[in-house]
Amino acid sequence: MPFQPELTRQATMATVTSTPATVTTSDWKTGLPVLTGSSFTLRELRLDDAPSLLAMLTTEEVARFISPPPTTVPGFEGFIAWTHRERQAGTYVCFAVVPEGMDTAVGIFQVRSIEPGFGTAEWGFAIGSPYWGTGVFAEGARLVLDFAFDVVGAHRLEARAAVANGRGNGALRKIGAVQEGLLRRSFQRHGQQHDQVLWGILADDWRLQRRSPLPVVVTH
Ligand SMILES: CC(C)(COP(=O)(O)OP(=O)(O)OC[C@H]1O[C@@H](n2cnc3c(N)ncnc32)[C@H](O)[C@@H]1OP(=O)(O)O)[C@@H](O)C(=O)NCCC(=O)NCCS
Repeated sequence: MPFQPELTRQATMATVTSTPATVTTSDWKTGLPVLTGSSFTLRELRLDDAPSLLAMLTTEEVARFISPPPTTVPGFEGFIAWTHRERQAGTYVCFAVVPEGMDTAVGIFQVRSIEPGFGTAEWGFAIGSPYWGTGVFAEGARLVLDFAFDVVGAHRLEARAAVANGRGNGALRKIGAVQEGLLRRSFQRHGQQHDQVLWGILADDWRLQRRSPLPVVVTH
């Protein structure tokens, strides 16, 4: 994911609606809860996140292996309005990543139902490069996976990462996703066709992993 081409097209045409208030309910179709990490929060996207998302997610290093993000503030506003409508329809959730001390988003985690009822879903993520390697991804991913499995009720989450996307694949591997296959020439960007790795995480495996103690690190 981020920014499926067809989603971006719809988002660009979307009517901008008012920003929903922050909610703490677990009825996610009426509004996403705020999930709290150690140095950031995950919350519903707001229209005023558009300028910071434009700055963070359209750099070449962030965007090179994802579907093209919007290229303007109104384009991002349309995308944000679209995320609210899809969440209301019960087919999609998108969390904004907001570091402590900031008020606007520097990245997103998305989860999209790919079968009726949200049993199987696809997730994707993009974070501004100043926040790479800071631990925000791994902790945010745990919060989003807990939410997708325990609150939304998904039993399987898939992710696709271009083979050449070292950080994307490394990030998925380290949180315990399982490499399930190779999707040949499944992604096109800048006129080039890329193979993608298909990564899967099952709810049962995730719950087991969550219960296990952290691996022991042996040092000599
Ligand atoms: C994907 C993304 C959210 C991950 O966040 P991040 O902060 O960079 O991730 P982390 O640093 O926590 O983890 C990446 C891991 O990959 C490893 N890695 C980095 N480059 C690598 C490479 N070329 N090959 C293999 N592993 C690599 C890192 O060492 C790290 O593992 P470690 O923490 O055990 O050292 C972020 O890089 C991003 O937004 N990228 C652009 C958008 C994108 O590609 N989205 C993913 C689509 S699937």
